[in-house]
Amino acid sequence: MFKRLHELHVPVTFDFEGETVTADDGESLAEALLAHGVRHVRNAVVSGQPRAPYCMIGVCFECLVEIDGRPNRQACMTPVRAGMKVRRQRGAADVGAGGEG
Ligand code: FES
Repeated sequence: MFKRLHELHVPVTFDFEGETVTADDGESLAEALLAHGVRHVRNAVVSGQPRAPYCMIGVCFECLVEIDGRPNRQACMTPVRAGMKVRRQRGAADVGAGGEG
């Protein structure tokens, strides 16, 4: 069970799979999802098994999600902002899809 060690300072909401999540503006998306009780943020490419954020420092890539239609975003390295739309990443995403720019 994950729990924030502080109260929300500047609450904002965003969408995760159609559900409204309240988080602190600027906290990491992975932190916000874990604090909300989300344990499944993507599916493994080969087995399809559910995966969750692990390292929280941008190393393991277990936290890949789709943000505003752009796949392969690391939730642990992405600050929450109001209104963002986040979806689970299911399997491998097209590397060229939704790239930078
Ligand atoms: S949790 Fe490991 S890279 Fe995000």
